[in-house]
Amino acid sequence: MLLAFVSLFSILSTARADSLLLTTSAPHGGLSDCVAASYRGHYAGQHAYLLTDDCSSTASLGVLDSGSLVPLASKDRIAWVGASNALPSTREDMLAAWETIDSIASSLLSTETEDGQTSFSTKSFQVSLDRLPALIHASASGLYLSVPSTIFPVLDTFLPAHLRPVAFPRQPLALPSTRGNRWGIPEEQVERLINITENLRFNPKVAAIASTISAKEILEDVRYLTGEREDSDIESRHSFHPDIMKALRWVLRQMGALGVDCSPYLHEEGFAPGLLCSIYPESNSEEHVIISAHLDSRGTFGSLRAPGADDDGSGSAHLLAIARAISQHNITFQHPVTFAFFTGEEQGLVMSNHFAHTLKKEGVSVQLNLQADMLGYRVPGEPLQLALPATIDLPEASYLVANISQLYAPELVVGRTAACCSDHQSFLQLGFPATQVFERNGWIADPMYHNSGDVTNREGYDAEQIKSIAKVTMATVFEVAGWQQDGN
Ligand SMILES: *[C@@H]1O[C@H](CO)[C@@H](O)[C@H](O)[C@H]1NC(C)=O
Ligand SMILES: *[C@@H]1O[C@H](CO)[C@@H](O)[C@H](O)[C@H]1NC(C)=O
Ligand SMILES: *[C@@H]1O[C@H](CO)[C@@H](O)[C@H](O)[C@H]1NC(C)=O
Ligand SMILES: [Zn+2]
Repeated sequence: MLLAFVSLFSILSTARADSLLLTTSAPHGGLSDCVAASYRGHYAGQHAYLLTDDCSSTASLGVLDSGSLVPLASKDRIAWVGASNALPSTREDMLAAWETIDSIASSLLSTETEDGQTSFSTKSFQVSLDRLPALIHASASGLYLSVPSTIFPVLDTFLPAHLRPVAFPRQPLALPSTRGNRWGIPEEQVERLINITENLRFNPKVAAIASTISAKEILEDVRYLTGEREDSDIESRHSFHPDIMKALRWVLRQMGALGVDCSPYLHEEGFAPGLLCSIYPESNSEEHVIISAHLDSRGTFGSLRAPGADDDGSGSAHLLAIARAISQHNITFQHPVTFAFFTGEEQGLVMSNHFAHTLKKEGVSVQLNLQADMLGYRVPGEPLQLALPATIDLPEASYLVANISQLYAPELVVGRTAACCSDHQSFLQLGFPATQVFERNGWIADPMYHNSGDVTNREGYDAEQIKSIAKVTMATVFEVAGWQQDGN
């Protein structure tokens, strides 16, 4: 095991660096074009750039008075790993967690080195690798890892539950505008959401449709996805596990039965595809509304068994519940509505990142992305809750959701969470309005978070809360996408 690290470091020190990681909290005004064109996003207060060798001369970097430069081996994926905010976490906590990974990993390893390759195997999976993810830089708020592409699809299995990755986008991002909101979202789109919030009125028809959403059906759907149901043999929805294809096909059939067409979305080699299911309007509107969850999940350290009842079976089943309500009430929209079931979320928002880049490249306009991730766990004794992101959101999008919650699900206590990093971040990074709904105000409290024991049959798992949140997200889609009921 130690050998794997040693050989990695020798690779790093002898190979010509193909790129350099630059992280800095300095603002990006006045950067050279070369540096500006290598921007990869901001991660917990730091801007990250992936510079090519010819861009790292002091002439290019002169404008920066702080930051860190780290040479990187080629072809590796870079991932930022930060606290998921299961609990307050310091840099020292994260470093300590990282240091224990090597020793835990060695207990899972069998090393067959015929061809000099290490074979990493656990109870449930086996991948070949010549080296493990390596820590390349530790900032105050996160770790930056260099991840061999062969093991990128199982990156999550190397991380303890309270750490989670956000992979760098493969292509550079535009620098966010230094004016206006910090995600660089066009003002007219923000205004549009503000206008909807200001003009909200309780609509008894929306309430009546929302009231048909069934907690019982949601629970049954989640139980199919976790493999708890008799008629399901899904063992895992890890993006690398073959059973995720069973989940995918099942969702496709459910959506098809509701009259919603889905297409598989291929993104990166090694990852199961996700699903995009869209309802198109009769008008030719191109103002998309995207409601999403991630179908994939993550289990206990080293294991691919990932039932994911809460993370994110709850969000996935909540999408099905909304599609059912729409279908059963003959609802159509003025604007296209897409239900997105993402994969690769647990390895760092991989599909959503790819999808958001595709939308950007094609010039698609997105009015709102609303991500539902972890809706079902409630600490016994606490009230039903709906949490919006404390920082990773467009605030005006969160205000809209919070106001709608008061109208259609007054039973929910609305607040904020520091829970970090779900797929809506991929949209924000590209300047699309987005926010997330989550199960709890404050820290993540689910004891089965990123654990192979994340099933429905346990204390605290509450389909009623999922249902209440589904009423809110359904009404939000209705408001933003302009709903109407056919035949009325
Ligand atoms: C604001 O919303 C109202 C009512 O929904 C609509 O009639 C009006 O055109 C909107 N104004 C703008 C500037 O979008
Ligand atoms: C939906 O449309 C179908 C066929 O037009 C009709 O039979 C049904 O009653 C409608 N349902 C509702 C809730 O409007
Ligand atoms: C409703 O929206 C307004 C902004 O329009 C915001 O100030 C307020 O906090 C929101 N309500 C809730 C409950 O968040
Ligand atoms: Zn999740």
